[in-house]
Amino acid sequence: MNVGGQHFRTIWLKADDARIVQLIDQRFLPHRFVVEGIATVEQMATAIRDMHVRGAGLIGAAAGYGMYLAARGGADLMQAAAQLKATRPTAVNLAWAIDRQLHAIAAADLAKDKVATALATAKQIADEDAEYCRLIGRHGLELIHRIAREKHGKQINVLTHCNAGWLAFVDHGSATSPIYAAHDEGLPVHVWVDETRPRNQGSKLTAWELGEHGVPHTVIADNTGGHLMQRGDVDLVIVGTDRTTYTGDVANKIGTYLKALAAKDNNVPFYVALPSSSFDWTMRDGLAEIPIEQRAAEEVRHADGWANGERVEVRLTPENSAAANYGFDVTPRRLVTGLITERGICEANEKSILALFPEHASSAPTRKATLLSPFSSREMGAGDKSVASPG
Ligand code: MRU
Repeated sequence: MNVGGQHFRTIWLKADDARIVQLIDQRFLPHRFVVEGIATVEQMATAIRDMHVRGAGLIGAAAGYGMYLAARGGADLMQAAAQLKATRPTAVNLAWAIDRQLHAIAAADLAKDKVATALATAKQIADEDAEYCRLIGRHGLELIHRIAREKHGKQINVLTHCNAGWLAFVDHGSATSPIYAAHDEGLPVHVWVDETRPRNQGSKLTAWELGEHGVPHTVIADNTGGHLMQRGDVDLVIVGTDRTTYTGDVANKIGTYLKALAAKDNNVPFYVALPSSSFDWTMRDGLAEIPIEQRAAEEVRHADGWANGERVEVRLTPENSAAANYGFDVTPRRLVTGLITERGICEANEKSILALFPEHASSAPTRKATLLSPFSSREMGAGDKSVASPG
């Protein structure tokens, strides 16, 4: 997508130096556009854990490049895989990309072939992510066209939560891809952007990237969506997901479930956009099985922003109040109108999902063995040392 008229992806290999992977450091957006160079798997693990990069697709692509850096640096690949997998628990793309790399690299014999294979695989993961998101845009566009026909040229209002835009992937985004496609076709689309406390991925990132693309949008406080739906001011909700079970339960940024409840109560269609890399083909029951990241309480106690060209952080709560910071919630499939994937739109249930992805229909036990997660329980404790502090 374009930044100041120049095309960028979120992650790429440095043009004149194959030892360096470059990425957009999202901690500084929307105030500064910073590109960071990553040279080691340790640095990549830090970038994922501390949210220089974030969002399911991009976390997967970053992990893919992290494994390339590990191979290039002669690191122990199983150790590197474990280190990367331990960074964030909820987005399934992380383990998916690492396992794909381990599998690909294992097929090469010589060290130099392993490095070449790791680089080719990292590029494939990134290219595929961008292409699948583009296709999600084509399929989702049909939904927006249908609403446009019903509204006879009036503004189409889409609500989204968090950032499932191009910054959360390699390009295009999942939830935003149909929006960009509609805007580019001249449809009068407007986006309600949930600010998404506590990290404000909506007000900082989604608002920024929509603005860069010229898409009309309005940032709203997180609790506003239900009110707007009651007034008839939301035609469609599209959100992303960090992990969706093969039965259609959707884990996404905390607060998504409440939007889905409000949408159901007001007959507003609630769609989830995802590339197939965000399906967990081993999990049947999202509420019981998906690990929910619990992040540092400081992210809730504080807010940050920019003043006089500098990042400033202020405390919002009484000094001694406890705070809890659940990163994600699970929206049960019964609240989801449909899933927009690279292969088309399906219902949020096992039959419909596996009809689109039949290659996953018969291999559940094998999948369970290969997609190993370092997080054994459903919640990652607040005291866990890998929890990131704000910005
Ligand atoms: O904690 P983050 O910023 O990595 O959150 C993940 C997300 O970006 C959202 O949950 C998003 O809506 C789905 S991931 C494309």
